[in-house]
Amino acid sequence: MLICALIKLLIMKKILIIGIIVSGIIACNNNQSGNNTNGANNSGQNQQTGNTGNPSYDPNRGEGKFTKVDVSPKLDVAMATSGEKVYSVKCAACHKLTDERLVGPGWKGVTSRHTAEWIMNFTTNTDEMLSKDPKAQAMLEICLVRMPNQNLTDQDARDVYEFMRQNDGVK
Ligand code: HEC
Repeated sequence: MLICALIKLLIMKKILIIGIIVSGIIACNNNQSGNNTNGANNSGQNQQTGNTGNPSYDPNRGEGKFTKVDVSPKLDVAMATSGEKVYSVKCAACHKLTDERLVGPGWKGVTSRHTAEWIMNFTTNTDEMLSKDPKAQAMLEICLVRMPNQNLTDQDARDVYEFMRQNDGVK
């Protein structure tokens, strides 16, 4: 009796598994064709915004209040020290100082990836930059998390930028 029941159970399991596999294949195919059309639509939309979008957008500067940041070749140690404090309170949860990604990208080399203006606009005007800037959007695609606006003052943003320069080896 027990053996009989066991065999029955095994057969049912097999049928179930086959069923799951078959429906899985159907679902995958559906998804693929769905994604393909979505992909085509998306790229169409992107092209449209690219063509008709704001032609005055400057991807080197980003979008925000900072148009020209004065940066001396030498490190401002006082600013970098304040910047490190802001970093440990507001940024360290998501950003490492190495090139390793945590929630957001690691900060090693960030000052050579972007201009001072871009970084300070991004850190003070994060939402708008994420919706407009191609580099920010590319990061969002990798990180899958939208960086929340950190409510930095202008001075905080400048201090953190100086701390980033220190982290990138400026003395
Ligand atoms: C909750 C997590 C989180 C916090 C907190 C956070 N960030 Fe981010 N940051 C991100 C993510 C995620 C990205 C990548 C873009 C995206 O997906 O929104 C990013 C991207 C960046 C970039 C661009 C990095 C690059 O390599 O190009 C800078 C600069 C930056 N953040 C600065 C800051 C500063 C300054 C703070 C603190 C005041 C901070 N972030 C706090 C998640 C965070």
